[in-house]
Amino acid sequence: MKKSIEYICSDCGYLSKYWLGRCPNCQAWDTLVLNSVNNLNEKFCEVKPLKITEISRSSFEVFDTGFSELNRCLGGGVYKNTIVLLAGNPGIGKSTLSLQVAYNISRSRKVLYVCAEENYGNLKVRFDRLFSNYPENLFLFDNSNISYILEASKEFDVIFVDSIQAIRSSDLSTPVGSISQVKSCIDKIVEFCKLYGKTFIILAHVTKTGYIAGPKFLEHMVDVVLLFESRDDYRVIRVSKNRYGSTDEVGVFVMTDQGLRENNYIQFENVGRNPGSVFALLPEGSRFIPIEIQALVNKSYSEKPRRIIWGIDNIKIMVIVSIIEKFLKFDLYKYDIIMSVIGALRVFSNVLDFSIAVSIISSYLVFPVERSIFIGNLNLYSSIEFISKGKFRQCLLEASKFSIQRIYSNFSRDQIVSEYQDLKELIENIEFYKVESLKDLIKLWG
Ligand code: TYD
Ligand code: MG
Repeated sequence: MKKSIEYICSDCGYLSKYWLGRCPNCQAWDTLVLNSVNNLNEKFCEVKPLKITEISRSSFEVFDTGFSELNRCLGGGVYKNTIVLLAGNPGIGKSTLSLQVAYNISRSRKVLYVCAEENYGNLKVRFDRLFSNYPENLFLFDNSNISYILEASKEFDVIFVDSIQAIRSSDLSTPVGSISQVKSCIDKIVEFCKLYGKTFIILAHVTKTGYIAGPKFLEHMVDVVLLFESRDDYRVIRVSKNRYGSTDEVGVFVMTDQGLRENNYIQFENVGRNPGSVFALLPEGSRFIPIEIQALVNKSYSEKPRRIIWGIDNIKIMVIVSIIEKFLKFDLYKYDIIMSVIGALRVFSNVLDFSIAVSIISSYLVFPVERSIFIGNLNLYSSIEFISKGKFRQCLLEASKFSIQRIYSNFSRDQIVSEYQDLKELIENIEFYKVESLKDLIKLWG
C-alpha cells in the first residue's frame, strides 16, 4: 500500500501534502502535524475487535502506587493499559513523586523511568536522596526521542515519561515542547498503549496561563488527569478527569527532605491551645480532611486594618467579619486579622464558615477552644443552620476519631442521642452544646 503522507492542522483539520509553519486555512502557527491515521494504517490491521468473552479480567489490573492518597485519586491505583497525565508548575515535585511511585510499583512490575529533562547523573543524585536501596525492576532511560522511548517501552509494564514537553518526534522539524511536537508524541504514545497494552504516566508542565502544555488536547487524549498544586510545603493532587473514579477526590502530601510524604495531618494535640486555633473537618471528595484554622486578631496601628489571609477566600473572611461586627458588636474594624489554614491547601466550601467565625472570635476574646468542633452552616444573620442528617452523622463519626470533647451545633444532646442511637457508645463522653447563633456561643462562654 502506498503511504500517503499528509499533514493535518491540529486546530482546524486542514490537510496539506507538505509541512507548513502556518496553516493556510486558519492562519494558526505551528499547528500542522503528521496525520497519524494515514501513517498507522498498517498497524491497525494487527488489531481486531474482540468478543466480550475474549476480554480477560487482567485488563482491569490495578497497580498500587504505594500512596493511599494517590490511589484514592486514581480510583484505586493506576489501571493497566491507561495513560495518566500528571500536570503541575515546574519545581512543584512531579519528578519526585513520580520517581517514588515508580520505585513503589517496581516492587511488583517492570518499570521504566524516561528522563528526558535530566541526565542519569542528576537522577542518581535524586534517587540517593529518596531511597536507600536500588530496586531490580526499575530502569532509567535518559532519552528524548519518542521512537527510541517506545521501542524501549515494549519490555516494561509501566512507563513514566518525564516530561511530555521534553520529548520529540524526529519526523517533525519543530522545536521540542512546541504544540506540534507534544501532539505528535502523545498521539504515538496513545497508539502504542493501545497496541501493546502498556501503562503510561506522563508528566507535563503547566504553562503560565494555567493550561497543560498549551492546548487542551492533551487532556482529551489521556484517561486520567491529575493536577498538582502547592502552598508552602503542602502538595495537593486534584483530579480533573478520571475514567475510573470520581473527580472529587483530593490527595494531600507534604514535601520533605526525603521526597513527598502522605500528610500525617495536623498535630491534633496542639490545636486549640492558642486562642484563634480551631479544629475543623474539611469535606473533600469522599472523606474529611482534619485541619486547623488559625486566626490572629490584633489591635491595628494603621488607619486601614490589614486582612492577611492564607488558604481562605478573602471575600469569605470579609463576610464573616461583617456578621461578627453586626451581631456581636465587636469592633473588628480596629483590628488586623491574620488567618491561615493548616493541613489543606485552601478552604472553598461554606461548610466551615461557623468554624472560621469561631476562630476569629476565639482570638478576639482570647478564649481558647481545645478539643472542640463546630458543626453547622452560618447564615448572614449569624444563625447556625441545619446541615443534613447524613452529613452530621459523618461529622460525628469523624470527630470521634479525634478525641473531641465538645461539639457545638444547633442540636441538643437529647436530639442527637435520639437521632443517632446507633452511635450512642461513640458519643457517650462528648459534651454537646446547642447554639442557634453566634450570640448563644458568647453567652455560653460567659
Ligand atoms: P521536582 O520533583 O524536580 O519538581 P518538578 O518535576 O515538578 O519540576 O521537585 C523539585 C523541588 O523539590 C526542588 O525545589 C527540590 C525539592 N525537593 C525536596 O524538597 N525534597 C526532595 O526529597 C526532593 C527530591 C526534591
Ligand atoms: Mg521534573
